[in-house]
Formats: sequence, structure tokens, C-alpha cells
Amino acid sequence: MTRFMRAVVLRRPGGPEALRVERIPEPSPGVGESLIEVTLTGVNFDDLERCAGAQPELPLPAVLGVEAVGRRRTDGQRVVALLRQGGGYAEVVAAPEAHTVEIPAGIGDPQALGLFEQGSTAYGALSLAGRLRAGESVAVSAAAGGVGHLAVQLAVALGASPVIGLASTSAKRQFVTTLGADLVLDPADPELADRVREAAGGGGVDLFVDSVGGAVARAALAGLAPFGRLVCLGWRPGTSGDPGTGGGGDMLVGTEDQAGVVAVTTAQLAERSIGCAGFWMRHVVDDRELLCGIVGRLFELAAQGQLTVHVDRTVALHEVGAAHAAVAARATSGKVLIDVRREV
Ligand SMILES: NC(=O)c1ccc[n+]([C@@H]2O[C@H](COP(=O)([O-])OP(=O)(O)OC[C@H]3O[C@@H](n4cnc5c(N)ncnc54)[C@H](OP(=O)(O)O)[C@@H]3O)[C@@H](O)[C@H]2O)c1
Repeated sequence: MTRFMRAVVLRRPGGPEALRVERIPEPSPGVGESLIEVTLTGVNFDDLERCAGAQPELPLPAVLGVEAVGRRRTDGQRVVALLRQGGGYAEVVAAPEAHTVEIPAGIGDPQALGLFEQGSTAYGALSLAGRLRAGESVAVSAAAGGVGHLAVQLAVALGASPVIGLASTSAKRQFVTTLGADLVLDPADPELADRVREAAGGGGVDLFVDSVGGAVARAALAGLAPFGRLVCLGWRPGTSGDPGTGGGGDMLVGTEDQAGVVAVTTAQLAERSIGCAGFWMRHVVDDRELLCGIVGRLFELAAQGQLTVHVDRTVALHEVGAAHAAVAARATSGKVLIDVRREV
């Protein structure tokens, strides 16, 4: 007998109003998948782009949402899962077992959800791509955001000093200070590169983790110390594209005669002894041992009180559009949760 569930369905690309709650059949688990009865899912920045149609290959109608926490139907175990194909904005999801981990006692559902995708991204950018060493200086853009607020805390926990955040409003800058950042800068400062260098002690910053691109990435490059690294993990609409196909983003590294915005030439990379790297969660997700190792470490840090997912708001399924609008308007700090069981 077909079982039905409530889900937020996208039938045509559009703004937040394109997201509507519908009753649709529950998914059937494929090979290597398990059904999860979802308690919480979350809004990620990339959901906004998928909603707006930035991924034309996304088959419609679609249920967005790349993460979910809840109970596995077969054994009642509390689990958190990454959903590369989406499906999280629903009461039930079919999740790949390879991308699902069991949650230890003592880690609540909101913490597990925030740590899994956004926390692993922060860890991957700092440690895997950024090769952060204790004592190095670190700057993080969108530092009040879902990924950013965890990156700031992780940088502190990993022994970085000073830790510099970037955030666009004084309220967000205040929030980033409470996370342990030594200094918080305004990304709109026209002298941003100078401010970053000064904040890092004058010689430049050792590691800059950037999820914004454009002018912020250019300032990040200009503000690097010798042997400094820029790690790119995202960019804003206007330069968007799919890293897997090489589209979108900014031209950051090239020779001066290439078309596009060239912020640094290969000669400058050599002459300044600086490097650029990227990070994409797919390369962690595809490596089960790496994924479990990172998530285990994040759960440990959370249990020790060194890492906390701060919840900006928790909305019901019918409020997902409004939550998307808030993220697009840069009006959120920390994690935006969706309580799929809440009906009002
Ligand atoms: N590479 C990966 O594997 C991976 C995985 C997850 C997420 N990401 C990327 O990480 C970034 C952060 O994702 P998130 O879900 O945690 O989002 P978020 O940081 O909570 O929200 C986005 C933040 O970006 C900043 N921003 C700067 N310019 C903006 C603009 N024009 N429009 C909207 N926001 C702008 C805003 O902070 P301020 O107002 O303080 O500037 C805003 O709060 C995204 O770029 C996402 O694609 C990458």
C-alpha cells in the first residue's frame, strides 16, 4: 500500500514562493539506501540556487534538502545523512547508507545535523585543503553563516591565532566575536586586503577560507602572507556555476592575457609564495573512512564543548520559502533548521 508524506515540492524554478508543501508518496529505498523518518532538515545556501534553477539538470518536480536527521525505519537508530540528490525537505527520505552515520548519545539532533554537512565542510576547508597548523593566522568570510560560524570555532579549537572573521553587519560581527574570533572585519571595507594584513599582524594571513568569491576573494589573495593559502569553497550568484563542470566562479588564477577577472597571475603566485586551493564536500563524502573520521572528530569537539551549532531559527515545512528568503537576504546567523513534524 502506498504511504504518503508531507514534503516541500519544487515544480518550477523560482523564488521562495516556488516551494509548496504537498502530500506525495514516500520514496522507495534503492539498493544501499535506508528510509529515515526525518525530525530535522536544514537550509543550505546551495538549496537557494537549486530552487532558482541554477542546476538545469535537476529533474522536476523535486524535493530539495541535502541533509536530514531522524530515525532509521528499520532499526529505530538515530542517524544523520547527506543527501546529494536532495529529498530532505520531507517527512521521510531514502538515504544512501554510505552517506549516513549513527549519532552518539549526548549529541542532539540539531547539533548532529549542523556538524555533519556544514561542520565537515568547515573542517575540510581548514584542515584538508587549507592544511592549517596550530599558531597560524586564519580568516573566514561569511563567518556568521552556517559553515562560517563552525569554521571560526574550529579554527580556534585547532590552535589558529589570530582568528579573523568577516561579517556584514554589526550584529553579525558581535556574534562572530562570541564564537572566539579575535577580530571581525566588514567585507564591504574598500581597504579589506589591508585590514586583513593588519589583523594578522602586518605580514598577511596564513590561511583565508572564502565562500563568497568576487571582491572578497581578491582581497583575500592580496592579504595572504608568504606561504599563505586561499581556500575557495563557494561563490555568490552572478558568478555561479557547477564546480563539477568547471562553470561559473571567478577567474582567480591565470596569465594576464586570459579573459575574465584575473586577480593573481602564475608569476605572482611564485613571486609571493602563495597558493590557491578549493574544497568540495563530495570528495569527503565519497571516502567513507575520511567522512567517518571527520564527523567523529567533530562530534568529539562538540561533546567537549569546543564546537556548538548555533541555531538561527527553526521553521515548519510551510515556512521553508520564508527561510530561503531570509538566507538570501543575508539575515541569518548560524544554522537554519526545518522541523518537518511541526504543522503550525
Ligand atoms: N564546497 C563545499 O563543499 C560547500 C559545502 C557547503 C557549503 N558551501 C558553500 O559555503 C557557503 C556558505 O554556505 P551556508 O549554507 O553556510 O550559507 P550562509 O553562510 O549561512 O549564508 C550565506 C552568507 O554569505 C554571505 N554573503 C555574501 N554575499 C552574499 C550575497 N550576495 N547573497 C547572500 N549572501 C551573501 C552572507 O554573510 P554576510 O552578510 O556576513 O556577508 C550570508 O549570510 C556557500 O557559498 C555554499 O555554497 C560549500
